[in-house]
Amino acid sequence: MLSLIQPALSGDIHRNTNVSLRVQASSGASDFVPVLEIVSIKFEFEQCPTAKMMAADQSVHGVPPSLSAKVVGSFAYLTVRDRLPTILTKVIDTIHRNKNKFFEEYGEEGIVAEKQTISLLSKMRNELQTDKPVLALTDGLQDTESWNQYLKRHQRPQGDQESVSWFKSPWLYVECYMYRRIQEALWLNPPISDYDVFNESKTQSFFESQQAVMTLCTYLEDVNKNMEDLAKNQLVEHFNKLLQVSLWGNKCDLSISAGQDNSQKISPIDSLNSLKPFILVDDSNMVWSTLTSTQRPGPPGKATAARVDIILDNAGFELVTDLVFADFLVSSGLVREVHFHGKSFPWFVSDVTAKDFQWTIRQTMAANHKWMSKSGVQWQSYLKEGVWSYHDHPFWTQPHEFCDMAADAPDLYAALQGADLLLFKGDLNYRKLTGDRDWDHTVGFDTALRGFGPAPLCSLRTLKANVQVGLQPGQAEKLTSQDPDWMTSGKYAVIQFYCPASEQ
Ligand code: F6P
Ligand code: MG
Repeated sequence: MLSLIQPALSGDIHRNTNVSLRVQASSGASDFVPVLEIVSIKFEFEQCPTAKMMAADQSVHGVPPSLSAKVVGSFAYLTVRDRLPTILTKVIDTIHRNKNKFFEEYGEEGIVAEKQTISLLSKMRNELQTDKPVLALTDGLQDTESWNQYLKRHQRPQGDQESVSWFKSPWLYVECYMYRRIQEALWLNPPISDYDVFNESKTQSFFESQQAVMTLCTYLEDVNKNMEDLAKNQLVEHFNKLLQVSLWGNKCDLSISAGQDNSQKISPIDSLNSLKPFILVDDSNMVWSTLTSTQRPGPPGKATAARVDIILDNAGFELVTDLVFADFLVSSGLVREVHFHGKSFPWFVSDVTAKDFQWTIRQTMAANHKWMSKSGVQWQSYLKEGVWSYHDHPFWTQPHEFCDMAADAPDLYAALQGADLLLFKGDLNYRKLTGDRDWDHTVGFDTALRGFGPAPLCSLRTLKANVQVGLQPGQAEKLTSQDPDWMTSGKYAVIQFYCPASEQ
């Protein structure tokens, strides 16, 4: 086996850099034999490589391969084989169950659209289950070309011999592609194009978490009421609690459970202490100091606090935890502005779209609970005043690793650079931050980000896929021996921070 031992590749390699790589051979199990040869390689890509290096990245750049369903028995394999077809079957069933509604709204045309959509989805399910090639999109929407370019990018290194297919391609790519194809099936059938196939389960998950939402809004009211009198240590304590509530809110996604109820039933505040040991990396003090260090002197007597961008994940209870945390950030004066980033079409079952965002705030306002409705009214006025704003961008519903963002979505990258802190919610965002690759668990978060860092950032994620970096030596081994499913059960979490400026 050949292993790369020098140099440790880091951020300062640029286009046309000449780098000498020292390579060692090992006989197998443990000991290395002396250095075999020195290979000189001219790097032809930018710090964060995109298309050009995809074929070569394992051997040249020290970047591990993408997780893929081609590894039989892996979590990716089980997801593509079992979970994705289950989700597709539920989507088909939902559309069929709503046949009468489509008829009432659109007459015969609605029924034709329902049938054609189901037929396209059944065809896709068959392609998936028989590992057929991934097909180019045909719906001519804003992002179609970019998806088709991405397919070519993956096809190119494989030549004409082998097609990019469901089981043989990167898991991240095919899983994202499935959600985009669901959208294509709807968009090709106009009267029902805007129908959100996941809406029922998202609203159900919100209503099933009502008790927890009320508890949370009551807690928020209590904190806000006493805000003026809080000592600094009390403020930090509330900050940590609400940050952790938002973290654990991520347990409640509907993709991992293939659409089954996954709502929050117990008090989110009371459970925090018992959940603490399950936070594998806790950089919350760095998040706090990032926010407090951005407090700059503003107009007389006023400080200009930070802008925080929250890259949202799931609707239902998780979204409420994010809104409560954002409310606290603003009412405490730590933050002057919050930008929320959501998805532009229904995605990974439970992810937030603009409609979900507005609906959740309206429902909160309309609740028959004093502090819940007060919170909703406050959130609505934050939006009206521009203190909060909602944004979406096609890049969030594309399959790219985030290290591609600067090249493939420069406008979004530039927008994120305006933030003082980026909070990335959830598992899928973590997979995209780290490229969904088979990293060694002790590799640094900074290395796995591969140059992505428009601003200081923090991932708030419960583990639901087998990628995790930034652990202590031996930590992963210990977890594996105690709890073999630690990476996929949603039982563990990370608050993992990275600051690009501190690297320079
Ligand atoms: O594997 C579980 C899964 O379906 C992943 O594909 C995905 O990363 C995750 O669920 C979605 O979780 P989240 O909503 O936290 O991004
Ligand atoms: Mg999600």
